[in-house]
Amino acid sequence: MFKIAVAGTGYVGLVAGVCFAEMGHQVKCVDVDEEKVQMMKTGVSPIYEEGLQELMVKNYAAGRLEYTTDYQYAYQDADAIFIGVGTPEKEDGAADLSYIATVARQIAENVEKDCLIVVKSTVPVGTNDKIDQFVKDFKAENVHIEVASNPEFLAQGSAVRNTLEAERIVIGTESKWAEDRLRAIYAPFHLPIVSVNRRSAEMIKYASNDFLALKISYMNDIANLCELVGADVQDVAQGMSFDERIGSKFLNAGIGFGGSCFPKDTKALNYLAEQNNYELKTVRAAIDVNKDQKTKLFNKASNRLITFSGLKVAVLGLTFKPGTDDLREAPSLANVSLLLEQGADIYAYDPVGIDNFSKVFPEGRISKGSITYVGDPKEALEGSNVCFLLTEWGNIKEIMPIEFARLMSTPLVYDGRNIHELEAMEEAGVEYHSIGRNAVIRKVQKVTQEKQGSVEVATSY
Ligand code: UDX
Repeated sequence: MFKIAVAGTGYVGLVAGVCFAEMGHQVKCVDVDEEKVQMMKTGVSPIYEEGLQELMVKNYAAGRLEYTTDYQYAYQDADAIFIGVGTPEKEDGAADLSYIATVARQIAENVEKDCLIVVKSTVPVGTNDKIDQFVKDFKAENVHIEVASNPEFLAQGSAVRNTLEAERIVIGTESKWAEDRLRAIYAPFHLPIVSVNRRSAEMIKYASNDFLALKISYMNDIANLCELVGADVQDVAQGMSFDERIGSKFLNAGIGFGGSCFPKDTKALNYLAEQNNYELKTVRAAIDVNKDQKTKLFNKASNRLITFSGLKVAVLGLTFKPGTDDLREAPSLANVSLLLEQGADIYAYDPVGIDNFSKVFPEGRISKGSITYVGDPKEALEGSNVCFLLTEWGNIKEIMPIEFARLMSTPLVYDGRNIHELEAMEEAGVEYHSIGRNAVIRKVQKVTQEKQGSVEVATSY
């Protein structure tokens, strides 16, 4: 068993630390935020992530897991120090490496025995080499420190499972010593290990994430074309999925990808290419398609309605995907902002995202509209004129078509996650707009014309 320190207790660092402890290692998690450290000591997870809090409590009680702000105490006798601090996006799309640099220096100045630094944060190709040099510049002469890359592939909402049952562990090392130590740390996980050099490991992370982002943008692009030519993107995806070379996952067209990885990592790789005088056309396209996709439904609704001013608009789902309270690059942000500018009175619901969302959009009047948070999706729908479905949380998906018709004053639904069957919405008398399934919407509009009276009244304030 190894003595492990983990720098940073965000999604990457905390989940890694807790899972190392679960596998029997002795772990110290370091964070600069005293309040957060105190909170974790009382057994409360600072992030919403299934199964994480239980493992935190269990391993803390077993004495395998500690939380501290004292980095010197954590680093001095560690066999390995994993860096999981953020690499936020800078204005030009480049990754901001200042947190990593700070941690690397703190490590170099405090390590008292031979130690492997393992970079888990997503960093541009070549960064590990720089960290290696940086550490060598600052470390004490009598200690041996090496740097390895070990990119993280966890998805939010299933982070613990993705770590304990990862499809592969990628390790990037430049010496047998580093490779052996990292293999030994991961031995108790019994997972496949892909061992490559540092630069390739760094690139595997970007290439994997950007490939998935590209897959989503491709399907969104196809969905938009489907609408124009009368095809149904879900049927198209199903037909494609039988080809094992394509696979069945990540073919869901929708309102665009968000989160902490895809938006940032596509821009970062594009930036890296630019720095090397290379035009990475495919990734550029994924970024462009995604930008337009996020406001696709809003634009559809704007074209359909005379105005949003004075309309009650239900927004169901605020987080970038279900199973997380994370709002980073969530489509809700852009859409709510546009709706408020257009004077909508928004009633917003999310099972876990309201606290974070209300920090960005405080309840009350904002811009030309207003926002009210409700604890039940049906409360948002009650008497509303328009509904936007933005995150496919279980209890949002469960709302039956007939309930939209019954609760809404004018049942006009814009679904960014293709949750409902077109026929079911049509039968319930809901005017339903989704992504890439235009063929049947034409039929739905016929039905809505019969209800036109009420829709017109509500939409012509
Ligand atoms: C992703 C990667 O999956 C993970 O391996 C990496 O380490 C970090 O980035 P995450 O951002 O947590 O994880 O979520 P993911 O489930 O991949 O979804 C990302 C975004 O793509 C979400 O906004 C989601 O709604 C969207 N998405 C996903 C689609 O629009 N369609 C799909 O078919 C799949």
